[in-house]
Parts: sequence; C-alpha cells; structure tokens
Amino acid sequence: MAVIANIEDLRKRARRRVPRLFFDYVASGSYDEKTLRANRDDLDTITLQQRVLVGVEGRTTKTTVLGEEIAMPVALAPTGLAGMVYPDGEIHGCREAQRFGIPYTLSTVSICSLEDVAAEVGKPFWFQLYVMRDRGFVASLIERAKQVGCRTLVLTVDLPIQGQRHADIRNGLSVPFRPRLGTLLDIAAKPRWALGMLRAKRRNFGNLEGRIEAMENMKSMAEWVSKQFDPTITWDDVDWIRSQWDGKLVVKGILSREDARIATQHAIDAIVVSNHGGRQLDGAMSSVRALAEIVDRVGDDIEVYVDGGVRSGGDVLKMIDRGARCVLIGRAWLYGLGAMGAQGVRKALEIIHKELDAAMALSGTVKLDRRSGNSGS
Ligand code: FNR
Repeated sequence: MAVIANIEDLRKRARRRVPRLFFDYVASGSYDEKTLRANRDDLDTITLQQRVLVGVEGRTTKTTVLGEEIAMPVALAPTGLAGMVYPDGEIHGCREAQRFGIPYTLSTVSICSLEDVAAEVGKPFWFQLYVMRDRGFVASLIERAKQVGCRTLVLTVDLPIQGQRHADIRNGLSVPFRPRLGTLLDIAAKPRWALGMLRAKRRNFGNLEGRIEAMENMKSMAEWVSKQFDPTITWDDVDWIRSQWDGKLVVKGILSREDARIATQHAIDAIVVSNHGGRQLDGAMSSVRALAEIVDRVGDDIEVYVDGGVRSGGDVLKMIDRGARCVLIGRAWLYGLGAMGAQGVRKALEIIHKELDAAMALSGTVKLDRRSGNSGS
C-alpha cells in the first residue's frame, strides 16, 4: 500500500475509497469555486521566514483556547455528513481529537447524534449550531448539548441560505435525493465503504431523527433541513442564544472587519474567521487575507480563530503568525477519515503536528505567540 506522507496522500486514498457522491461533497466549493481556490492560493503565496542559530530545543506547540490547554493550535471543524464519509465518522473524529488533546466540533447536521458521540467519548466536545427557522428545535438542541456535557457552542452565521455546489447537483446529492445510475454503480464499486455503512450506527441526520414529525428517512430530513436555513437571522438571534447558554460561545463565519467589530459588542468569547471553506459566497476573500485586518481590529478584545484551506503544519504556522489563536481544519481531517477511518484521522493530526513542529524549528519559533512576525507575503 502506498506510503502516506502528507494530507494530499490521504486525499488521494480517500478519493479511491469514498463513493464519489460523498467525496465530491467534501472536496467541492460553491459555484465557480473561486473562494475555495483563493483559500489555498493565498496561503501558498505567504512565505515563512527562515531563522537560524536561535536555539529551538525547547519549542512547544502547546497553547490555550478559551482557558484550556491544547496540544497544538488546531481544532476539528464542524462538518455535516462525516458519518457518510466513513461509518460512525463523527465518533472516530471526536475520539481521535480527544486522544490528541485538541477540540472536536460536532455539526448540527452530523450523522451521529449528540448523544451517540457523548456515549462513546470521555470528554466534552464542542457543538456547532445552525439557527434554523424552527426556533423550538434550536432551543431543544441547545438543551441537549447541555445535557450531554458540551461547554462550548459554535454558532455558524454564514448560512442564511445554502450556497450551491454544482458537483452535488450533478451527482444527485440534491434535495430531494435523486441518485443517478452512475452514483449507484460507483457505490457498488466501493464494497468496503458499503459494508461498513451497513454496520454503522446511523445513516441519517442523527440530531434530527425522532425529533421532528413526519421524518423517517434521509430524503424527508434533507428536505426539512434545506428549508430550515433562516434568512431572517440577525445579531438579535445571537443574543437570544446567549441568553440560553452559560458556556463559551464562539461565532463562526466572520470575514469582514466591520462584522468582527460588531461581534465584540455582543457577549461572545471568540470568533472564527471563515468563508465556510469556500462553500458559501463565491468571490469572497480568502480567510487568510481577511485574518490580519480582523486581528488588528479586535484581536485584543476577543479570541480570533480561523479556517479555510489549511492542509499542513506550515499553513497552521502562517495563520498563527497572522494573529490567529487557533486554526480549524475541515477537509484535512475528513480526507484522513475517508482514507482510513480512525487511523486516518490520527494520521492527519500526526502529520500536521509534525510539520508544525518542523516549521517552528526551522523558523526559529519556540512559542506560538501571535504575531511572531515570521511570515510575509
Ligand atoms: C463544512 N463546514 C461546515 N461548517 C459548519 O459550521 N457546519 C457544518 O455542518 C459544516 N459542514 C461542512 C461539510 C463539509 C464537507 C465541509 C468541507 C465543510 C465548514 C467547515 O466547518 C470549515 O469552515 C471549512 O471546512 C474550513 O475549510 P477547509 O479546512 O475544509 O479548507
């Protein structure tokens, strides 16, 4: 079997093992994918500053987020349908993140439910919330998150409507679900995945199952979800959620300085600079470009995290250099998951950690203070 040296190797293996329908769902961006590409291209144009003879023996990747120590400044981003990339994918993701000593974020539209994941892991995880039209359901999700011991809520605000991914339409991953013949043949050609899925805990949106009337299957749930994204959402909803949640509150999906400034006027603990991995507004700025000016504006008032395009430890260091306190990774962990399940998630984290450690050593960085000034563009 081919050696796995970097995240790209995991991506290639995942592409062979995961049915195209779900692989494309992970890899794609919205519309013409300009923002998806910009996230990567802009990271690539930034250089790291080589430094020598500074003594890097005592370097550490450890840092803190929201008052807790973590092994490296990386968290697993919330991703819907991870349990279709690999059976029980959310449980594997959460377990491996916790073993590594970093946060895991469970998506509202996960396959395994809040309760499924909590039953299988030892420590609290983060829960990502979408504000859906059915506010009663949102309130019940918040309550369930409390019940299973979550202490951090990540409120995603960049999805008042859903961006379109052309690949999902072409593959029949649309609402209503209409798989093409080619999709079915492709699934039949991936027996390892198909057999695993037969044994999976669930093949449905776990957080929704049994909670909403008249929803028994993936099709009716997917239809419900697609109608539930709410264009009326405003900062008032953030305050409404704050009033029901005593734990930490992180707002994800900020890309402008002005929105970051407004965020600091609300009782939240952190923001994630993000364009949803290039899956929402196509033509929006890359997150690495947006990061520095947002940190300049609000970096002293609130913790600033970032995601988008991170595929290596070097990318993590570039984000930290530009002022992020923590970096979320989406596709990087999903490629590991699709390639080799739990072992693949572990591998992805080990790769990123090792690369980050090497990039720190070779750039003379011993501590991950923000703005060490080691990268330029
Ligand atoms: C996402 N993302 C996402 N975000 C969120 O808040 N809730 C969600 O359910 C999802 N679902 C989702 C599915 C998939 C397949 C992907 C790739 C992404 C966005 C995610 O949290 C994060 O912002 C991006 O993935 C970051 O970009 P990279 O690391 O994937 O390049």
